[in-house]
Amino acid sequence: MESAPFPIDPSPPVHVAIIMDGNGRWARARGLPRALGHKSGAEAVRRTVEAAREMGVSYLTLYAFSAENWKRPPAEIAALMGLLRLYLRSEIANLSKNGIRLRVIGDRGRMGADIVALVDEVEAKTRNNGAMTLTLALSYGGRQEIAEAARAAARDVAAGRISADEVDETTLARYLATADMPDPDLVIRTSGEKRVSNFLLWQSAYAELLFVDVLWPDFGRDDFEAAVRAYHHRERRYGAAIG
Ligand code: IPE
Ligand code: IPE
Ligand code: MG
Repeated sequence: MESAPFPIDPSPPVHVAIIMDGNGRWARARGLPRALGHKSGAEAVRRTVEAAREMGVSYLTLYAFSAENWKRPPAEIAALMGLLRLYLRSEIANLSKNGIRLRVIGDRGRMGADIVALVDEVEAKTRNNGAMTLTLALSYGGRQEIAEAARAAARDVAAGRISADEVDETTLARYLATADMPDPDLVIRTSGEKRVSNFLLWQSAYAELLFVDVLWPDFGRDDFEAAVRAYHHRERRYGAAIG
């Protein structure tokens, strides 16, 4: 990617979301086990979090494990959960030092009890940090999230707390895991795949999508800056007439 110095003007996108893909191919190209691709991917997470915060992004959301990734071999899932544990334990001090608030969205019911406890702890300890919100999507699926929101709204209708007619897009959005976050402005997917794989389906309705060929473990500050520059060349219309 081009390496011109990044101009911080115009202002960075408020919310950047990333589908971090290509760890397996990165490992295979080197004759390494997939788990080492994921380990290298965790380093790319550290670099990207730092770059996003320094550029003034307010929300960074990373797709770390999809609801469908539970279909993977148990050994690979165990390796990913091990890395997650390691990340949470080792980053808590760093996140706090850098004013980063951590949040996790996704189905906690399928995660191990120790991971849920660790997630709860890091969320609680970083709750008041204001420089950037880092959201990890773990055991996350966009359709599952929307179904869950619809269930919760249906319960409130059944209990008489809201009327069925109140369930419009604004109301339903309040039942999503991302209720208090702005929608992503830019969604990046690495590794050359051009699909969204059940990520932030509702929230990405008007996001700019950027598909880049770099494999996630190779993703660095330059790639992040290039993505933001590409975003600034897009014209967002939201369905309105132009000209
Ligand atoms: C992304 O890398 C990490 C997760 C989905 C957890 P992959 O493991 O999907 O890597 P590829 O797509 O096989 O290269
Ligand atoms: C999407 O990547 C999920 C994450 C990056 C966590 P996958 O590798 O699981 O997606 P597909 O299977 O190629 O659609
Ligand atoms: Mg993949």
